[in-house]
Amino acid sequence: LFAGAADFVAAAPSLGTLPAMDGVEIAFAGRSNVGKSSLVNALTGRNTLARTSHTPGRTQQLNFFRIGERLTLVDMPGYGYAAVGKEKVEAWTDLIHAYLKGRANLARVFMLIDSRHGLKGIDTDVLDGLDKAAVSYQIVLTKGDALKKSEIDARIAGIQAALARRPAAYPQILLTSSRDDRGVPELRAAVARLMAE
Ligand code: GTP
Ligand code: MG
Repeated sequence: LFAGAADFVAAAPSLGTLPAMDGVEIAFAGRSNVGKSSLVNALTGRNTLARTSHTPGRTQQLNFFRIGERLTLVDMPGYGYAAVGKEKVEAWTDLIHAYLKGRANLARVFMLIDSRHGLKGIDTDVLDGLDKAAVSYQIVLTKGDALKKSEIDARIAGIQAALARRPAAYPQILLTSSRDDRGVPELRAAVARLMAE
């Protein structure tokens, strides 16, 4: 699936400019700077496909990448980054929520959580919205290279407990790192399984 071409399709700054629905979409959502764009690159094996940055607020539109015949990956703007200004934050938040709840061909949302920080209030707000809209999501921990094994185990156990009563949550939590590639093959396998459904 990821051996072939991966191409940028479109960037949508607003709901009115989304590309036509075609095939299966999988979205990468999460707080600003959590590592969404980096993980899209790691997954596709193309380091410059999605633009990454040390400073939060890099991705400012919904970016659509086509993988093969039927799959589109969507790199989303991060939520919760106040420094871009109130108006932008509100516009992004509205766009993110509207897209996530209203996209009929959205097969799953990978909800990225920084393994060093865990679930924050703003994450649980988004999860509440996904549960309410019955949009399937899976927690993907990022930056796993920055933690010790014991810290990782504790983090996963804590989030597992927090997910127990969330109906739209996929039970398995994936630990990844775009830096050392851990969890990336498993993430690819999860995508392939979704495509086979
Ligand atoms: P926005 O588009 O601003 O919301 O950010 P993003 O979630 O797309 O994050 P991005 O991929 O741009 O990465 C943000 C920062 O985290 C960059 O400095 C990356 O180098 C760093 N980063 C991303 N993935 C990893 C990882 O697996 N490990 C470590 N240690 N750092 C990472
Ligand atoms: Mg980004």
